[in-house]
Amino acid sequence: MYVTLLTLHSFFRWLVLLSLVISLFRAYRGYRKKTPFSSADNAWRHWTATIAHIQLTLGVLLYSKSPLIPYFWKNVKDSVNAKELSFFGLYHLLLMVTAVVLITIGSALAKRRKTDQEKYRTMGIYFGIGLFLILCAIPWPFSPLAQRPYFRQF
Ligand code: HEM
Repeated sequence: MYVTLLTLHSFFRWLVLLSLVISLFRAYRGYRKKTPFSSADNAWRHWTATIAHIQLTLGVLLYSKSPLIPYFWKNVKDSVNAKELSFFGLYHLLLMVTAVVLITIGSALAKRRKTDQEKYRTMGIYFGIGLFLILCAIPWPFSPLAQRPYFRQF
């Protein structure tokens, strides 16, 4: 179960990133060219938020299965100084939840905006901040806080 969740969670990061980049590109292009907010734009808005929600769910499940997390909470005082433990126990969780909340709010607000320009703008701002937080909180192989592979191969 743990290995399956970790593999899925690792892979799903690429879908999260890809959907955000495509949605941001469409928002930027639509805003600059003043094109109508098409049903394809709306589908990207919707699916980007949905993919982020799936990743959030996988993350919460992984949080309950990972052996790192109970160790972190049992030894909180010492663990906060251990970079990798505090990263997964606290910072990864907080930054990722914040990012997904922003993506959710942005998606909901964009849907309700009156003009197409406002829809693109709202989607661009919220998804852009969400992407920035996610990029910071991923344990890239070059991250100074915690390093994990680009692709999980057990
Ligand atoms: C968009 C949101 C998220 C992205 C892109 C993301 C991405 C990642 C990546 C790439 C890893 C490394 C996987 C590996 O070891 O190969 C990871 C690990 C982990 N993530 Fe997330 N994550 C997200 C949200 C969350 C959330 C919300 C939680 C908790 C509620 C969470 C909990 C964890 C845990 C506990 C691990 C480490 C598990 C272990 O090594 O035992 N993630 N995440």
